[in-house]
Amino acid sequence: MDAVKIDIGLSDDSRARIADGLSRLLADSYSLYLMTHNFHWNVKGPMFNSLHQMFMTQYSEQWTALDLIAERIRALGYPAPGTYAEFGKLTSVKEVAGVPKAMDMVRHLVTAQEATARTARALLPVVDEANDQPTADLLTQRLDVHEKTAWMLRSLLEE
Ligand SMILES: [Fe+2]
Repeated sequence: MDAVKIDIGLSDDSRARIADGLSRLLADSYSLYLMTHNFHWNVKGPMFNSLHQMFMTQYSEQWTALDLIAERIRALGYPAPGTYAEFGKLTSVKEVAGVPKAMDMVRHLVTAQEATARTARALLPVVDEANDQPTADLLTQRLDVHEKTAWMLRSLLEE
């Protein structure tokens, strides 16, 4: 059966470009989510309790956001990526091998939060030009979370 034509006032080209950008953001967000949950499980040392809790707050928020990003891709008429193979190709977040020391975990998370923010920001001009407010709203919210979380993590590394 042919796909039902989508006519929501966005050009086919805009929908395709925005869905591609959101797929990259979903891949970054999933990679960041997994890194944060991994560090929640494996963190050790005198900061255990506060980092274990802080990472849980972060990955729980990220988990909810994954669904919003994926469903925006669907609303634009495209399939949402949902396998490790696809995420591996699309993500700009570098996977961390082994179990880093607690403060190195924080450093890796700052880097991953910043990478995810850059991916969201790179899509904003495309979205603005296309007049796609729901995606602009989603991107604005994700930028706010990633920039604020990066600041909080960075603050742990400073005197
Ligand atoms: Fe837990």
